[in-house]
Amino acid sequence: MCGIFGCILRRGLAAPLIHKGLKRLEYRGYDSVGVATLDGGVLHIRKDAGKIDEVAERLSFDEMPGAVGVGHTRWATHGAPTMVNAHPHVDCGGVVAVVHNGVIENFQELRRELEEGGHRFVSKTDTEVIPHLIEEELKKGAQPREALLRAVRRLRGSYAIAVLFASDPEHIYCARNESPLIIGLSEDGAYCASDIPAMLPYTRMVAWLRNGEAAILSAGGYEIIRISDGSRVDRPLTEISWSLKMAERQGYPHFMLKEIYEQPQSLRNALRLQKTYLDLLAAFLDRGREIFLVAAGTSYHACLAASYMFSKLARLTTYPVIASEFIERYGSSIGIDSVILAVSQSGETYDTLKAVEYARMRAATILGVTNTVGSTLTRVSRAYIVQQSGPEIGVAATKTFTAQLLVLAQLALRLARMRGKISQDEIDEFQEKLLEIPSIVEEVLNRSASRVEELAEKYKDEKLFLFLGRGISSATALEGRLKLLEITYIPSLAYPAGESKHGPISIVEEDVPCIFLCPRGETRRDIVGSIMEMKARGAKIITLCEEGDEEVKELSDDYIEMPKGIPELLSPIPYVVPLQLLAYHIAVKRGLDPDKPRNLAKSVTVP
Ligand code: F6R
Repeated sequence: MCGIFGCILRRGLAAPLIHKGLKRLEYRGYDSVGVATLDGGVLHIRKDAGKIDEVAERLSFDEMPGAVGVGHTRWATHGAPTMVNAHPHVDCGGVVAVVHNGVIENFQELRRELEEGGHRFVSKTDTEVIPHLIEEELKKGAQPREALLRAVRRLRGSYAIAVLFASDPEHIYCARNESPLIIGLSEDGAYCASDIPAMLPYTRMVAWLRNGEAAILSAGGYEIIRISDGSRVDRPLTEISWSLKMAERQGYPHFMLKEIYEQPQSLRNALRLQKTYLDLLAAFLDRGREIFLVAAGTSYHACLAASYMFSKLARLTTYPVIASEFIERYGSSIGIDSVILAVSQSGETYDTLKAVEYARMRAATILGVTNTVGSTLTRVSRAYIVQQSGPEIGVAATKTFTAQLLVLAQLALRLARMRGKISQDEIDEFQEKLLEIPSIVEEVLNRSASRVEELAEKYKDEKLFLFLGRGISSATALEGRLKLLEITYIPSLAYPAGESKHGPISIVEEDVPCIFLCPRGETRRDIVGSIMEMKARGAKIITLCEEGDEEVKELSDDYIEMPKGIPELLSPIPYVVPLQLLAYHIAVKRGLDPDKPRNLAKSVTVP
């Protein structure tokens, strides 16, 4: 997730507005920043790694000449946060400048083709293929509009782009597929931005571009066209009534809720991983004598779930370990044959890095899954995957958890294929379901939101909750409980359901709410027995069960129905979503701020 802001004015300098616009998009990315302006047919570009204000001051953004320009604040996905990788990117002739938010899936093949055709690339980004593709079309004689359309038709993946042509200082060209882009108009000019907050100081009259659309902005107006055939789209502007605070959260009252609702998109991004990196990680995992999945907090829960995936799909035993316990527990056996797969959203968690450093010193192979390119974890890993969820502002991890799970599921499937442990049919079937996960989560959000809010109202004053699941759902239970605990402060327990009779059941008395995860699958039969045990002791039974599971529904005081046909191994992704919402709504109903839970920090970089 990156931020784009562009403007074309009737008079005055564009750059100071771009600087301010980017500042309001800083939450979308902040590892590097850049601006391109056009003046007298000449492109001016200034960019570097660093925070917006610091780079803007150092490179005097506000003094850049020209009434037209585009800017970008970056959250690295391909290539480290460096000056060279910062946007805007240009073609060989330096006459086309592009800023981009999204992930181009086929950039490697496009880059190869363009390099063979003589184009010179300077960055490691996927974005750089775009100006070169456009240049190629200009060389064939196309005008900017046609060159843009032909170039973006070749892109696979997600993109919101804004483009300047030195030959056409009267226009900004934009296009979108899956990444957001808004255009706006005022008396003074026209604007494009990734998000509403950047627009608000200049205009409240905006139009959203839809997938497969391009827009051409001039100082006095705009035109929207379809990328497929260049035909015109009539879309009037609408007036935005949101306050700035509302706009930063896209109308959501809190970042946590916004991020919960971003999950269909962050999951789509997580499906766009480069297959070569997945293969590389899978090959290292396959070679290891012992595999440790090391992480803290929510990321540890992703590791726990992943250990079931690796075992069931790839027949590979892995050891999920809480990072702060790793050295004490396994340190003495770590050696050259050990593989440590460290999972960390921030890539900066002290305990995780300490475990990794320890293992590295003993010549173990370090692999990483993170959301942060350029983080310490990416620097110390032999190979790593970036999950591409964009920045997460809410302290409680939500969208980054489900994306971690989807990355790890893909990794497990690659490994299964590599090791030949399950049949081609099973692989194909699982792969198909993986691809459906973003839509399934969308459906869960649509179907369960109001039901979860009702349950939050009903149970908001409880003093204790139990979360129980079997198999991989025990990881879902732990994560659901962590969300509730960290933002509502309600004491709660989570256990593998089979373990509950070995102790936890002693705290169950009349009306204690007990949340059961009951996806269809191998554990479904046994979970019914666990429900009965709790029911017999007067617990209030709340279940997440598959649509049409009458047996579980009948045993429940309250239930949330989940879509049919979700494989148990993927169930933590959709099943955790109602639990995230439950925690969120209970926190709000208890008058707490879910974005800022007490005593917690987003990234724990201290011992
Ligand atoms: C919980 C949460 C924390 C983090 C943990 C690890 O909602 O956010 O438990 O999961 O601090 O952080 P990363 O993944 O950055 O290593």
